Amino acid sequence: MQVSVFSTKPYDRSFLEAANVGTAHRLLFHEPRLTEQTAPLAAGSDAVCLFVNDVADAETLSILARQGIRLVALRCAGFNHVDLAAARDLKITVSRVPAYSPHAVAEHTLALILALNRQIHRAYNRVREGNFALDGLIGFDLYGKTVGVVGTGQIGAVVVRILTGFGCRVLAFDPYPDAACVALGARYVSLDELGAESDVVTLHCPLTPDTNHLVDARFLARAKKGLMLINTGRGALIDTRAAIRALKNGSLGSLGIDVYEEEADLFFEDLSSTVLRDDVFARLLTFPNVLITGHQAFLTREALSGIATTTIANISAFAETGRAVHEVSVERLA
Ligand code: NAI
Repeated sequence: MQVSVFSTKPYDRSFLEAANVGTAHRLLFHEPRLTEQTAPLAAGSDAVCLFVNDVADAETLSILARQGIRLVALRCAGFNHVDLAAARDLKITVSRVPAYSPHAVAEHTLALILALNRQIHRAYNRVREGNFALDGLIGFDLYGKTVGVVGTGQIGAVVVRILTGFGCRVLAFDPYPDAACVALGARYVSLDELGAESDVVTLHCPLTPDTNHLVDARFLARAKKGLMLINTGRGALIDTRAAIRALKNGSLGSLGIDVYEEEADLFFEDLSSTVLRDDVFARLLTFPNVLITGHQAFLTREALSGIATTTIANISAFAETGRAVHEVSVERLA
């Protein structure tokens, strides 16, 4: 198979090339994100390999289909950016990487919680400037605190396990409770109860029409005052404008995010010499109690290796049998 790999970064290339050794696939690496405008780059390929901010809407998929693309091999878990109904109608198979080191994202979640709580981001700058004052850096013991985990799938379940190691009381919300989480001591409650009782809430559910703006003005108004909100799921799980209002009035105590609603035009690129046009994001950057990373929770060697291996396995299976190992389709979601 010839595969056009979009949104290629140096690390994508090295891990995918390593995983591709011994196969007959030809990988063509393109730096641009997939959009209607860049779709012609895939001409001559049988498959495209996409990441989280590539556009796979109906228009783009139909351009790909006209060029003979039969497989969209996502090198990520989330598939909210793919129009699955359009893919089905165009007879394009969509595959993804459902599991790859959930520890990578879970551990980054803890990194955000701990750094934000103990204000490591501010302490780092202070010490470098010779300011060893501690005023304003008071945190809290995570031990004994209540943490609400929204979505206890592969990543959320690891977060639950780590939090129990810290001695936290864990509340969970998921339409499909996980027995292993219950065995660890997590208690499944309603989303409202989770918000009202938790000192920290962390989001690990997929972005779907149901979970879009799951954390909105209503949730934030009912949440415990001073809540620390963490999002390593998908940006649109949080209504960012509502979060900014809650940060301004003090009801939201702090915010740690690895994902952002409008990240597609920002993340993964060096924009340090350009003017930031996103005023909402710019406002977030002004808060001392907001910590942002640019969608890097997955970025460990183990996760990158797992992503590349499963992506190539999906492509190989499709080449041999016409079916990928981990397909995602509207029928399967129904
Ligand atoms: P998963 O599919 O194993 O688990 C998702 C869980 O969310 C399931 O248990 C499901 O029942 C639950 N869920 C579905 N709807 C829900 C709702 N309305 N409320 C609460 N829970 C709900 O997925 P996994 O692997 O744990 O990943 C979770 C999400 O993390 C992905 O969908 C993706 O968006 C995000 N992610 C972010 C990464 C990053 O680098 N920041 C990397 C990988 C995934």
